[in-house]
Amino acid sequence: MQRRTLLGAALATAASAGTAFAQDAARFAHGTPLGTVPFSPDVFRERRQRVMAAMKTGIAVLHGADNIEHGQSEEEASQQVANFAWLTGIVDEPGAVLVLAPAERTVKEWLLLPSRNPETERWDIERLALGEEMERRTGFQKVLRTPSLGGLVTGLAQRNKELRFLGPIVGPNAPVPPVLELYGKVAQRVPGARTVDDTALLPSLRIVKEPRELAIMRKAVEATRAGHLAAMRAVRPGMTEGELKAIMEAAFRAAGGKGLSYHSIVASGRNAASLHYRGGNGVIGKDDLILIDAAASVGGYACDVTRTFPASGRFTPAQRKTYDIVLAAQEAAVAVLKAGVIFEDVDAAAREVIRKAGHADDFYHGVGHLVGTEVHDAGDMSKPLPAGAVLTIEPGIYVQAQNYGVRIEDQYLITPTGAERMSVGIPRTAAEVEALMAEGR
Ligand code: GLY
Ligand code: MN
Ligand code: MN
Repeated sequence: MQRRTLLGAALATAASAGTAFAQDAARFAHGTPLGTVPFSPDVFRERRQRVMAAMKTGIAVLHGADNIEHGQSEEEASQQVANFAWLTGIVDEPGAVLVLAPAERTVKEWLLLPSRNPETERWDIERLALGEEMERRTGFQKVLRTPSLGGLVTGLAQRNKELRFLGPIVGPNAPVPPVLELYGKVAQRVPGARTVDDTALLPSLRIVKEPRELAIMRKAVEATRAGHLAAMRAVRPGMTEGELKAIMEAAFRAAGGKGLSYHSIVASGRNAASLHYRGGNGVIGKDDLILIDAAASVGGYACDVTRTFPASGRFTPAQRKTYDIVLAAQEAAVAVLKAGVIFEDVDAAAREVIRKAGHADDFYHGVGHLVGTEVHDAGDMSKPLPAGAVLTIEPGIYVQAQNYGVRIEDQYLITPTGAERMSVGIPRTAAEVEALMAEGR
């Protein structure tokens, strides 16, 4: 991300100068991959070294996404396979493959990119030739073309017999992951080579956010905050959900948001009881509660926040009662959050508050999930949560027959002694919501 921004600035300056330098600068910036995002190549090399230190032996092959649409700027990151992006930072080359072999003597890692095609490059985007510039941009000493993959892995498998599957596991109706097909073929040809389950490895590393990741995630929170505030201020009965959504999403961008973490849910009244509501034509009624589950993304990192507020700016007593139950459920969950807690116990703490209030059947989803480059990020939540994990706490009460849904969702960073609410500055208690909405009304 940084590199692209810098290059963009350099190009703009050079272009306005209109000199020979402008041409050089332009040539320099041509060809994907443009670099690694959102960090410099050494960050990703260090991550690969951590992974290889854990592997010790064997081979790991990891495929990137086959379909990456160009022109999405920084948000190309969200089209890349998350494990691949985390290990390489290469998000603008479809069909890339990573090979790791920690027990090899000298070269232990390879990046393979599809062969160049001058015809498609005249239509789509120019791609960089192999060579020193490629090494500089990717941080890989060895960059090959993907037709070499079979030969490379077969050769390595003769010395490194564990063919490690890094996941993720997919459902029975999804296509077989290409790496498992490759491993199957290699195992048939190299005596002793066998597929080994290493699916827990990357989630166990990704779950702990690095300080530089947290810094980007806080920027995503900042943009998200601006959008939620704009929506609370702008809402008026008679607007459509879609109009409110447009105001909010414009505020995300104005505050530095680069993309959406997921499809924004802006649901009024009864629509809020449909958890993944994707409409937008609903007209906001004067007595409606509005539920907004929406967040900006920055540098490929997601955020995830939900707020529920009254269209009129004032909760009715009945709305307020339900709202306070949901808030109490969130606070009960947060009270038990800290490093070492098992997430099931966090869920149970929130559920107990809602059950005691007589709404056991009206809270029909889990209380939260990890957040990172994916909205539902990698990590084993059946194990004690580590410090550095980021997750949501999002209890809700939904009663379609009474035309409402209430959810409050915040994002928390687990610490050794508790949890820090990252999604700060977005009115959360009923009083805070009403106070903000009263401004300018
Ligand atoms: N916005 C998706 C979720 O809350 O999980
Ligand atoms: Mn969520
Ligand atoms: Mn959400």
